Amino acid sequence: MRTTPARLALVTGGGRGIGRAVAAALARDGADVALAYRRDAAAAERTAAELAATGVRAYAYRASVDDLDSCRALAARIADEHGRLDVLVHSAGIASRGHSVADTDPAELERVVRVHALGPHHLTQALLPLLREAGRARRADVVFVSSVITGVNPAFGAPYAMGKAAMEALAHTLAKEERGNGLHVNIVAPGVVDTDMGRRLVRATLGVADIRERDAASPYGHVCAPEEVADVVRFLVSDAASYLTDQRIVVDGGTF
Ligand SMILES: NC(=O)c1ccc[n+]([C@@H]2O[C@H](COP(=O)([O-])OP(=O)(O)OC[C@H]3O[C@@H](n4cnc5c(N)ncnc54)[C@H](OP(=O)(O)O)[C@@H]3O)[C@@H](O)[C@H]2O)c1
Repeated sequence: MRTTPARLALVTGGGRGIGRAVAAALARDGADVALAYRRDAAAAERTAAELAATGVRAYAYRASVDDLDSCRALAARIADEHGRLDVLVHSAGIASRGHSVADTDPAELERVVRVHALGPHHLTQALLPLLREAGRARRADVVFVSSVITGVNPAFGAPYAMGKAAMEALAHTLAKEERGNGLHVNIVAPGVVDTDMGRRLVRATLGVADIRERDAASPYGHVCAPEEVADVVRFLVSDAASYLTDQRIVVDGGTF
């Protein structure tokens, strides 16, 4: 029997990949979880059902973070159906197509930056009243899943690097603005992770069909698992990180 209500965490991109692993890690720590997904309803419903089977409450919401109205509608549903939010994890993301600046379609640039930066801004803004309430009562957390790319800025990755750079600017700004309201705001920056996105990335950039072929050349003998990123998020939103905010933690096995 719970004596205090569980924390409620909203994880964007929570149906698959890193977001799914984050949702599972937070659920293991007893949080109720709401997953936001864009298209893959089956994956999100399956993840929610698996988490619910472990004894927490789990919900799946369709909401595209690249759309202001959709972000506002999601925030309104969280407010109406739950009336509270303790943890917000921005994990939804898309890769850019690997074109040079010279060849990038403006529509692609705008879409990628919207998903990684404008959407997280809109969604955070819409959820701030609930997060502040939680923060003033005890604590609230916002975690942004960025990437090592902001320190590398490789050729052929401008839309994604720009999106993540703007996301990190948002995170650092928000941390300073909301500390007084009890919010902890941090960034996790992974290198390549074994997810759909990571598998596509190694196929496109290295011509590697099976990401397992990268294990031997990777730190600690394996490509980073989504759970290894999730464990860092889990720490950041825990009481073990009670005096920690405005930090960026790189999870790449020391590659960069
Ligand atoms: N994998 C890597 O190597 C790697 C490395 C560094 C950083 N990251 C970052 O980690 C985060 C998670 O990536 P991942 O590897 O887990 O990717 P993934 O396996 O491709 O999953 C992406 C998730 O984001 C969701 N999503 C995409 N666009 C969305 C939108 N407009 N609105 C709402 N949800 C949306 C997807 O929803 P649907 O399931 O509905 O499609 C999916 O759940 C991303 O921000 C990515 O940039 C990944």
